[in-house]
Amino acid sequence: MSYNNLGFPKDSFFLITGGAGFIGSNLCEAILKLGYRVRCLDDLSTGKQANVDMFLDNSNYEFVKGDIKDLDTCMKACESVDYVLNQAAWGSVPRSIEMPLFYCANNIQGTLNMLEAARQNRVKKFVYASSSSVYGDEPNLPKKEGREGNLLSPYAVSKRADEEWAKQYTRHYGLDTYGLRYFNVFGRRQDPNGAYAAVIPKFIKQLLHGETPTINGDGKQSRDFTYIENVIEANLKACLASHEAAGEAFNVAYGGREYLIDIYHGLTEALGVDIEPNFGPDRAGDIKHSNADISKARELLGYDPEWSFERGIKVAIEWYKENL
Ligand SMILES: NC(=O)c1ccc[n+]([C@@H]2O[C@H](COP(=O)([O-])OP(=O)(O)OC[C@H]3O[C@@H](n4cnc5c(N)ncnc54)[C@H](O)[C@@H]3O)[C@@H](O)[C@H]2O)c1
Repeated sequence: MSYNNLGFPKDSFFLITGGAGFIGSNLCEAILKLGYRVRCLDDLSTGKQANVDMFLDNSNYEFVKGDIKDLDTCMKACESVDYVLNQAAWGSVPRSIEMPLFYCANNIQGTLNMLEAARQNRVKKFVYASSSSVYGDEPNLPKKEGREGNLLSPYAVSKRADEEWAKQYTRHYGLDTYGLRYFNVFGRRQDPNGAYAAVIPKFIKQLLHGETPTINGDGKQSRDFTYIENVIEANLKACLASHEAAGEAFNVAYGGREYLIDIYHGLTEALGVDIEPNFGPDRAGDIKHSNADISKARELLGYDPEWSFERGIKVAIEWYKENL
């Protein structure tokens, strides 16, 4: 894998906030496999204990149930840590439109607490989850850092604010921060349940249960769906990035473009079902197309994603077949 043998010191210690969620639990797993220490901090608000239970026997693993809205919790969690991978946040554009105050407290103040705790504990690198939503209504493709439009949701505002706060911590306090703008990540352990579930796990589950999925809009929207292994690689490479690249945000995607309707048909074929979808209205705050230019991450982080959509979706489908 492209993140083996990156050359971390043997006793490296990682704090993963949101470590019981989809992306966080995959980061915990990958880093434990590499033989490093992991502390997972999660309030289990959208994540699940079951996502991390399998690590409890590993002496390199520690679970802390706690909320990043609480500065003391963040301070304690950062003790002795070398690298912070800050994933804790609430996702979902539509939910953020319903709950703006919560998104401000959780996603902005929470990350600001983590930045402050990382600074006071002198961590080496602070890598955090941003999002492609910061491109807002910018119509040009591919999306390129430095060319952002008007933000379309409180969720996008929260991620943009995190980037601005992180920049301040690099500028004024010398904390090396790296923002990773994830583009529609998918893979094992992504939650298929609930009104705000991501489309790929939701559709797989519905199709496996013989239900009829609903596509919002005409299905001709496109996204740069990114397999989880590429996201793990980006996080680990950002931990080893140069000081010169700090204070920046980077697109983390594969650089491809998949249409929702094609994904739908690919899933029905792979699952051997014959179910036509329902079509619903477009969702507020959604953009029509999204596809990333990943040259900045390639150049400054050495990011070189190996997992195409086609390769990743095959593995993801197999995982859901066995685990749903
Ligand atoms: N999945 C994607 O496609 C995607 C795309 C862009 C950005 N992101 C970002 O990546 C990160 C991880 O997303 P995910 O898809 O794994 O979501 P997830 O909901 O599976 O994981 C988020 C985790 O953070 C925890 N959490 C939330 N608020 C917390 C708080 N205040 N204190 C402690 N823990 C808290 C949750 O319990 C959960 O375990 C998030 O910051 C999200 O905004 C994800």
